[in-house]
Amino acid sequence: MFILAIESSCDESAAAVVRDGCEVLSSVIASQAALHAATGGVVPEIAAREHVGAIIPAVRQALDFANISLAEIDAIAVTAGPGLAGSLLAGVVAANSLARFADLPLIPVQHIHGHVRSIWLDRDPAEIQLPAVTLTASGGHSELVLLRPDGSLTELGATTDDAAGEAFDKAARLLGLGYPGGPAIQEFAKQGRPGAVPTLPRAWGVPGDVARNFDSAELGVRLRAGRIALPHFDFSFSGLKSELRRRVAANPDLSEQTKADLALAFQDAVADVLATKPILAAQKFAAKEIHLAGGVSANLALRARISELAEPLGLPVRWPAKLSYCTDNAAMVGAAAFFDFARKPELRSNRATNIAPNLALDF
Ligand code: KG4
Ligand code: ZN
Repeated sequence: MFILAIESSCDESAAAVVRDGCEVLSSVIASQAALHAATGGVVPEIAAREHVGAIIPAVRQALDFANISLAEIDAIAVTAGPGLAGSLLAGVVAANSLARFADLPLIPVQHIHGHVRSIWLDRDPAEIQLPAVTLTASGGHSELVLLRPDGSLTELGATTDDAAGEAFDKAARLLGLGYPGGPAIQEFAKQGRPGAVPTLPRAWGVPGDVARNFDSAELGVRLRAGRIALPHFDFSFSGLKSELRRRVAANPDLSEQTKADLALAFQDAVADVLATKPILAAQKFAAKEIHLAGGVSANLALRARISELAEPLGLPVRWPAKLSYCTDNAAMVGAAAFFDFARKPELRSNRATNIAPNLALDF
C-alpha cells in the first residue's frame, strides 16, 4: 500500500511516500528552523504562513522523488493533531483537497503515533518485538507510551511542565548557545569535564521526604535497583532549568570552560531521567523492547545511557534509522497511517478530516 503523507504540526513542512508502513520512497522536509532561530523559538503565526507556501511544493517533490503519480497512491495521510492550530490547518487543508481531488481515503494521524512508528522506517517489521515502551522526547513532548501487539497505545507518562527538547532549547539560551538547543548543547558538552561542577538535580518525581534523604544521582541508583518505587512515569524539567539559571546568575563571568562543564552536567541530568523511566516502565509492563523517538532521541548521551542500562536486562533499544526520522517528518506519519488503516475499517471511506490541536493519544 502506497501512502502519501503530510506533516505540518509545528515548524516542519513535510511530505513523504511510504510503502506498507516501513519502506520510505521519499521524505521531503522543508524546515523553518533557520527562520525561527532569530526569535529563539517558533512563532505560531509565522510558522502557519510558511506552511501555506511550502506544503504543496513538498508534496510535488515527494511524488517526484518517489517517481510515482497521484493515480498510483492508495491513501493520503495527514497529522491532525496535536500541534499548533494554524500549522496543522495548512497540512489538513492540503490533504483534504488532495483526497477529494484524487478520490482517495484520508487517514488522520495523531502526531505521537507518528513518532512511535518512526522506528519502523527503513526496517524489516519482522525484527520488531511488541509490546514496546516508546519514549518520544522532542521540542513539544516528553511522552512515555506502551505500544501493544494489536497496535493500541497507552500513555504511561508525560511532561508536567517543559518538554525535554524545550528544556535543551532554554538551557542553550541561558548558556548563550544557538537554536535549536539540543544539538548545540551536545556539541558544546564535548568540551565539558565530568564532575567539574556539582551534579544538577534530577526530577525523579518521588515524594519530597524520600528525595530529601538522598543526592539525586544516588536516588537514581536506588530506583533502578528497585529499592525505591517510582510513583509515576511523568517528567519535569523546570526545576533543572531553574537550577541552571541560578548557577549562571550566581556567576555572571562564566568562563567558556565552566559553561561547557554546565552543558555536560545539564545533558547528564536530562539523559539520566529520560533513560531511567523507560527502563523501569519496560520492566513493569513486561515490554520486549525500548524505543526512542523525537528530536531528542538524536542525543548521543541519551542513547549511550539507555543502552548501558538496558543491556544487562537483555532489552533491545532502538531509535530511528536516520536522524531525519527523529525530528518531525512525514514518513513517520505515513507509517502510522498504514497501521491505523489496517486497524480501523471506517477510515476506508474517509475523505476529509479536521484539525484537532489537542488530539489525545487514543483518539
Ligand atoms: O521532534 P522535533 O523536530 O520537534 C517537535 O516535535 O518538537 O524535535 C525538536 C527538538 C528541539 O527541541 C531540539 O533542541 C531537540 O529536538 N534536539 C535535540 C538534539 N537534536 C534535536 N536534543 C538533544 N540532543 C540532540 N542531538
Ligand atoms: Zn514531533
